[in-house]
Amino acid sequence: KQSLIIDCDPGVDDATGLLTAFASADLDLLAVTTVGGNVSAEKTARNARILRQIAGREDVPVFAGADRPLRRDPAGAGEFHGLEGLGDLTPFEPAAPVAEGTAAEAIVRLVMARPAGSVALAVMGPMTNLALALRAEPAMAAHLGPVVAMGGARSEGGNITASAEFNIWADPDAAAEVFASGCRMIVMGLDATHQVRATEERIVAIEALPTASARTAAAMLRFSQRVERRIVGWDAGPLHDPCTVAWLLKPELFELTPCRIAVETDSDLTRGHTAVEFRVEAAGANHFWATKADAAGVFALITEKLGEGA
Ligand code: BDR
Ligand code: CA
Repeated sequence: KQSLIIDCDPGVDDATGLLTAFASADLDLLAVTTVGGNVSAEKTARNARILRQIAGREDVPVFAGADRPLRRDPAGAGEFHGLEGLGDLTPFEPAAPVAEGTAAEAIVRLVMARPAGSVALAVMGPMTNLALALRAEPAMAAHLGPVVAMGGARSEGGNITASAEFNIWADPDAAAEVFASGCRMIVMGLDATHQVRATEERIVAIEALPTASARTAAAMLRFSQRVERRIVGWDAGPLHDPCTVAWLLKPELFELTPCRIAVETDSDLTRGHTAVEFRVEAAGANHFWATKADAAGVFALITEKLGEGA
């Protein structure tokens, strides 16, 4: 079983990723850590606990993390996720509280207490928590198992500015530190996640499942469908964050290209731009960039897992 920590900012697509992971018997989910991003840190921590309760996974601790980026002011993406972060699901106060300690402390403790290479990390939001964890324990970079992150854009440009994707743009300094920390990452940028579209047929298949996890994920997908149609003009919106969990469960669904990644932190114009370099002969590759995704395969996997959950 792959041990895993999920760091996220739910967020409707984070929610589907979390519900998929909660439902996956082949993952040993050690913790969920949350960060301010799509909505405030307070709301993302609450939302993760709501989703945990729906999935019946109170055995998994939720640690609340950074409420602001390292240097920039907190932003938000409420127009894509709803003001509370879970689309039109009405939030409630979950029964189980957050765990003691910060997200960054929990990440360091859980990773360093286990054998090197054994704990994977799925990063679905701004990389603030991971940057803080690596500042506190630089040796963690070499100790981590696979780190798969949703973030960045290469071929099509960004989704928040012409240059940048939201997670990297929201905390470019954290992303720059993490990419340069020595941990080898599998990066699901928009190049891959834009291939994974929530078509009507795919949403209907999830809606047809009898579990609460599936019903909740389907509501998130419906909300996104409406928003993407209204704001971006896309009939079928992309499903970003669940690609990280999908890669951990079934890496053959993605094609990866070795690359070097650096992040623009200072320019106002291109803040959060990911310079993804495939010509790595001189400087060497430090990460893998997802170039292709098997969208039907990703949806089949998510649908299967959501059907097996609570
Ligand atoms: C990313 O930004 C957030 O709004 C989503 O949850 C996802 O993590 C996509 O750019
Ligand atoms: Ca997210």
